[in-house]
Amino acid sequence: MNKTANTIISGTGISLPDTVLTNRDLEKMVETSDEWIVSRTGIRERRKLEKGLSNADLSEAAAREALDRAAVKPSDLDLIVVATVTPDHPTPSTSCLLQTRLKAEKAAAFDLSAGCSGFVYALTVAHQFISTGVYKNVLVVGVEVLSRFTDWEDRGTCVLFGDGAGAVVLTAGEGGRGIIDFSLHSEGRGAELLMIPAGGSAMPASTETLENRMHFIKMNGNEIFKFAVKVVEENLTLMLKRNGYVAGDLDHLFLHQANLRIIEHIRKRLKLPQDKVPVNIDRFGNTSSATIPIAIHEELIAGRLKNNSLVAMVAFGAGLTWGGLLMKW
Ligand code: UT7
Repeated sequence: MNKTANTIISGTGISLPDTVLTNRDLEKMVETSDEWIVSRTGIRERRKLEKGLSNADLSEAAAREALDRAAVKPSDLDLIVVATVTPDHPTPSTSCLLQTRLKAEKAAAFDLSAGCSGFVYALTVAHQFISTGVYKNVLVVGVEVLSRFTDWEDRGTCVLFGDGAGAVVLTAGEGGRGIIDFSLHSEGRGAELLMIPAGGSAMPASTETLENRMHFIKMNGNEIFKFAVKVVEENLTLMLKRNGYVAGDLDHLFLHQANLRIIEHIRKRLKLPQDKVPVNIDRFGNTSSATIPIAIHEELIAGRLKNNSLVAMVAFGAGLTWGGLLMKW
């Protein structure tokens, strides 16, 4: 556990595709309704990346804004970590494509795959380098282009996901501000609950995998729902307790935006008011590793996230993975 609290977020940025896909649009594509989607998920619309653009385009736009706001030059970056499950290519990493676009010559770069927990995992990894004094400036991007892996004939999943990116620049800070604690977990026995079966070495692309639609997201939503409501509260409560806090001390709780019912369930269990638990799933759907950095950026720009606020983030997703992070903003 790191008690030095010396890794701060000094700039944020986001990038969302212009194209909006509403529930009414989806009604024309699959057997669904606006009423079902809103009542079961809280989603009203999501963004879909335009043809010809890719993960690296969203990453670059979010990263440039975060760097500008942090007043950090790309040439001063020591490390770039891109959290994503929808990279431009299986290899090389999207982070390397981003590194060259930004001309961040001295930065090491790698992608991190931890499903929807990717951003929290990546922040934690970046924090290790900064808190040990090895690196001074790290760029972390949470980004997904899930629309390219969505089965637009499967109403059980196609209404849920969206595309987008959020980026943060981490720097060494002084005083009491910064990351206080983190708590990362995984449970590989749940791997099949949420996966893209084909396209890797276990099931390489073939005519058969294409015909069977195996390159798209397959999900057991009910099981993920039950897992999420259990582990998010447990993880957060434990992390708060071991640092001498209770949920009521939180100024902001950023939860992964997978379903409004999950968010509301946790918020009510923790007895937190709505204004402390930001929601953007209604506008962007589930953008996986991008949901939390997008929400953080929006709160910051709206002037609601103040220095020294007590902030927690908790995410969960494919793997299965889950992770929390506690910080003084
Ligand atoms: O990012 C992390 C990973 N993802 C998640 O966290 C997702 C977590 N799970 C969920 O959000 C919810 O389980 C879903 C939103 C995916 C599904 O909601 P649900 O209340 O668990 O519905 P269900 O899967 O139990 O389905 C209920 C009914 C079924 O019909 P029958 O069998 O009762 O006749 C489904 O076929 O709703 C049907 N259904 C739909 N109906 C209209 C499923 N999808 C749709 C749809 N429109 N889009």
